Amino acid sequence: VPRVDLADLRVAVSTGGTREPIDPVRYLGNRSSGRQGAALALDAAGRGAEVTLVAAHVDDGVLTEASTHPRVQIVRVSTAAELEAAMTDAAATADVVAMVAAVADYRVAAVSHTKLRKEDGVPRLELTTNPDILAGLVAARRPGQTIVGFAAETADSDAELADRGRRKAQRKGVDLLVVNRVGWESGFESPDNRVLILDAAGDAVGEASGTKRAVATAVWDAVAALRAPH
Ligand code: C5P
Repeated sequence: VPRVDLADLRVAVSTGGTREPIDPVRYLGNRSSGRQGAALALDAAGRGAEVTLVAAHVDDGVLTEASTHPRVQIVRVSTAAELEAAMTDAAATADVVAMVAAVADYRVAAVSHTKLRKEDGVPRLELTTNPDILAGLVAARRPGQTIVGFAAETADSDAELADRGRRKAQRKGVDLLVVNRVGWESGFESPDNRVLILDAAGDAVGEASGTKRAVATAVWDAVAALRAPH
């Protein structure tokens, strides 16, 4: 019997990596595959939620299953600015917001409208700060809305990871922070993941490892527990 414990919930999930243009053919990007966010969208939809999946750049095939699910609506974006607009829109009617996307912290200050040419010499790219989209969503939180942040951290030990996670959870104002360790060989691009789930105070309320779908299930379990009347 399928669990439909998220039925009647509207959920907004962001995923993938933003691309910040340099010129018409080049961009600043990151290695996010979009798999964890797509898994969250599918798991929520499978549990009865109506899902808006705001997808920046993702690897090939990552959205295939979500694109045919009757309860998942996909909105494609590219830059952080586009992702911010789409998530702000989706969050306005969402009960739960999960910011899984790897948003570029910086964009090129003056995007060139013509291709930069070698003849012009080594380009000096001046960067400017992108808005912290999650912070904006937290500031605009609707009554009763649950906000989930993600944090990819490099750490030398589990203790360091938990410590960084605790401080970030307290700083971000989110209801749940899902922390995962990334490095050259883990986290991004991988089919598997291992996470710690922290509450607003930074205390661990769950952990999960395995497929990104298994991690998604654990995250929604934590959301459901948080939202359960007690
Ligand atoms: O501080 P840090 O970048 O590690 O926070 C990660 C969380 O913040 C993720 O949920 C990510 O989607 C979100 N984020 C954001 N806007 C940014 C950078 C990160 O919403 N400019």
